[in-house]
Amino acid sequence: MSTPEHAGRAWVTPPPPTPQSGVPRASVELSLAPHAAPADEDAAEQTVGEIGPTGRPLRYVTDPPLVAHHGPAKILAICNQKGGVGKTTSTINLGAALTEYGRRVLLVDFDPQGALSVGLGVHPHQLDQTIYNVIMERDVTVRDVIMHTPVEGMDLLPSNIDLSAAEIQLVSEVGREHTLVRTLRPVIDLYDYVLVDCQPSLGLLTVNALAAADGVLIPLECEFFSLRGVALLIDTIEKVRERLNPKLEITGILATMYDPRTLHSREVMARVVEAFGDVVFDTVINRTVRFPETTVAGEPITRWAPRSAGAKAYRALAREVIAR
Ligand SMILES: Nc1ncnc2c1ncn2[C@@H]1O[C@H](COP(=O)(O)OP(=O)(O)OP(=O)(O)O)[C@@H](O)[C@H]1O
Ligand SMILES: [Mg+2]
Repeated sequence: MSTPEHAGRAWVTPPPPTPQSGVPRASVELSLAPHAAPADEDAAEQTVGEIGPTGRPLRYVTDPPLVAHHGPAKILAICNQKGGVGKTTSTINLGAALTEYGRRVLLVDFDPQGALSVGLGVHPHQLDQTIYNVIMERDVTVRDVIMHTPVEGMDLLPSNIDLSAAEIQLVSEVGREHTLVRTLRPVIDLYDYVLVDCQPSLGLLTVNALAAADGVLIPLECEFFSLRGVALLIDTIEKVRERLNPKLEITGILATMYDPRTLHSREVMARVVEAFGDVVFDTVINRTVRFPETTVAGEPITRWAPRSAGAKAYRALAREVIAR
């Protein structure tokens, strides 16, 4: 029923929004054009015996021996429930560095955000099948979904937002924590390393990654708040070891986004080394804009800026990982 005020008011239909005006719609693609790699800054490598950023003399890690045949793969979960600490960046670049030492690598995008897939130039929302389909549909095999990447010897099991449904759907499954290990079993002999990029949570997907893994690699941002979550993460790793996967160990803690110029970074580093000792890798990843740039380029830093400090650091990490 119209009130006296409404009666007689002329309702004017607003004009349709022009493409330039108003709030951007969800379908708007916000992207940056990749640009050429920087003139390479040929960074010096640290020498053995020199005191490294961890405050310890750098240990000698030889160039790894070549492998005559591949597999069975060692599965490493790249895990930290804190967001934005360098899990995805480390998965891509460690994987690419391992291939330079002749290792065959499978990267598993186990985060519904699909950042690992994006970082390798894949548009995850355009994919028909992802790791979600392998997990949830019996007639889709892991081989159907694995894709080659631009890096020779490195393959990708992509994911997209569909995977977020798996976390809920798996709850009622028998053996729900062992879904990922079952998924990977058919291809485990084809690779030397499987690196699982976990999402920033300790939910069922991450527990699946820990239940499948031989080791956990924990990227830790050199920042005060990073220290607070590590105890909880280690507690979870210990529970998974006791209840689900006795072989699970902590392969190493990787200090990331280190800024040698700030006292804060150096203090956090000293605290991490004091608390975790030799588990902390000698290799430390400095904070540099090169990493966000490589994401735009859709390539690992080892290819995009092969002589940069970041590329050299991930190669040093690969040598340490192979030696452990
Ligand atoms: N060493 C670094 N220096 C500077 N920026 C970095 C470094 N490592 C990663 N970044 C940038 O920080 C952001 C977060 O990194 P990344 O996506 O690897 O973290 P993440 O732990 O996987 O995050 P999430 O928890 O959201 O999955 C990205 O923009 C990445 O490019
Ligand atoms: Mg990530």
